[in-house]
Amino acid sequence: MASDAQFSLVTLVGSAVDETTDIVSDGDLQLTLFCLNALHNDGLDHVSDAWEWDAGLMEVRAVIEDAFEQVLRARIPVSGRPTTSSADAVAKALFELAAADKSPGLSRFVASKASKEQLLEFMVQRSIYQLREADPHTWAIPRLNGRAKAALVEIQTDEYGGGRPERMHAELFATTMRGLGLDGTYGGYIDRVAPVALASVNMMTMFGLHRRLRGAIVGHLAAFEMTSSSPNRLYGNGFRRLGFAHLTEYFDEHVEADAVHEQIAARDLAGGLVEVEPETLDDVLFGAAACLAMDGWVTEYVLGAWKAGRTSLEPSWTVAA
Ligand SMILES: [Fe+2]
Ligand SMILES: [Fe+2]
Repeated sequence: MASDAQFSLVTLVGSAVDETTDIVSDGDLQLTLFCLNALHNDGLDHVSDAWEWDAGLMEVRAVIEDAFEQVLRARIPVSGRPTTSSADAVAKALFELAAADKSPGLSRFVASKASKEQLLEFMVQRSIYQLREADPHTWAIPRLNGRAKAALVEIQTDEYGGGRPERMHAELFATTMRGLGLDGTYGGYIDRVAPVALASVNMMTMFGLHRRLRGAIVGHLAAFEMTSSSPNRLYGNGFRRLGFAHLTEYFDEHVEADAVHEQIAARDLAGGLVEVEPETLDDVLFGAAACLAMDGWVTEYVLGAWKAGRTSLEPSWTVAA
């Protein structure tokens, strides 16, 4: 039975959803959703794990996610739908979608122009995903079968270091952060990251945690892998330009690995899924388009702040004593 407090919470959150002008960049709503999702992942300090399946909190999450998904579907156009559901046709459509992406390119700016302070900001903004890298997509494994499942496990095995914890991509990212003098603890900068960066992780987690959205999480991963190899080379160049050539392992790893992952993700994962479940095609394309759009929004936000001479980070919270 829901308590008064839970009833009030869902009412409050419902009002916030009704009143927000942009749920994607709404810090309160995205942080709320992020904390609710954390209950399913690594947990929250001082919060009992028993809250994970609390009916009242699930209702709150549904209120935010329903509105969030509606906005994403309304804002993100999907084009290039193939006329057949063959794995090759799906892979071709995904590669074309990724090639048509006209995002301004944070990686190009980092490679050629970013200051050391901006490099640190870039790491902080990325840390909200990269310190848990691969986890949102892993939720899809039990929802897949056959060729698609084998492909996802093959990709994730690399992401998780192939049995070597120090080679986990999240750990390589944490090592890079520590090398720059930053805190490599997950959530260490939860009060500083941009709301749209939280939205980016919340979107992946939403795709991963809902079986009905398994096409979207698969398409998301395919687009993510397809747009990783070349930007990571450029990020590494930025590190070298600024005197951090000893800290490029995370980026170098992705130049190599993701050139392979994009092929597996497009043909075997996405193509393999659509071949046996053709009804997932539209969501595969939507997930891929959403990955590209969200990356573009984060980039616009960060580059917009830098070009205006501002930090892209949120001001630190002050906690009343
Ligand atoms: Fe990775
Ligand atoms: Fe990868």
